[in-house]
Amino acid sequence: MDRDRLVSLIAQSPFFANAAPERLAALAEAGRARAFAKGETVCATGDAPDGLYVVLSGRVLVSSFTAAGKEIVLDSLTEGAMLGEMAVLDGEPRSADVVCAQASELFFISKADVVRALREDPDFALSVLAALSRRLRAANALIESVSFHDIEGRLARLVLSLAGVDADDPPEGPVAIDRPYAQGELARRIAASREKVNQQLRRWAGAGLVETTREGLRLLDVDALVELSLGDEDL
Ligand code: CMP
Repeated sequence: MDRDRLVSLIAQSPFFANAAPERLAALAEAGRARAFAKGETVCATGDAPDGLYVVLSGRVLVSSFTAAGKEIVLDSLTEGAMLGEMAVLDGEPRSADVVCAQASELFFISKADVVRALREDPDFALSVLAALSRRLRAANALIESVSFHDIEGRLARLVLSLAGVDADDPPEGPVAIDRPYAQGELARRIAASREKVNQQLRRWAGAGLVETTREGLRLLDVDALVELSLGDEDL
């Protein structure tokens, strides 16, 4: 990839938003952009860490598997997100599998260059810490969701979050999820089976809560979905 384009893509990531032009140029020189195909593995649980990645384009899924082979998708990461920081920072093997949900371009920075940038650039170090805090918040929300909500509540939370709805300040009319998600992926994100998700979406569609379109899913009755996402505290 052309060096100037790489610098401008890296600069769009929140991790490098405050970086000086010399830092961006040095990172673009030290790192490399790599294209991954849909379905290609970026890193697998247990791998030795060699560096971290920033998503330049596309989308990757972070997953964990139970001993019985059941998968839960921990997160879906798009442009600007960082991955692979955990093993680089704690020196342990990779903590999860990362697989491309679509063709993606990732920027790779070696462990030595990451450590150097963290030592020399407090803004970069702070943005990595902020990203780790956001990740921990999201992981806490996922634990809470799987522990205390039934599948209907979990799915309501997921579709609202994918549509960018703030449950404390829901929009008046319908909202759409702007990218199509396979039902299997929705299921893996809430630790449910694809069949259960399919049944639930049909029930909601029948009751006028959602509508499936060629582009994806439209949430027609956001208030009802917010109500369902709050769940039953007695579960
Ligand atoms: P690392 O352990 O090096 O390799 C796998 C990566 O997946 C990990 O770093 C994080 O970047 C990412 N990851 C692990 N757990 C989560 C999570 N719960 N949410 C989002 N990303 C995660």
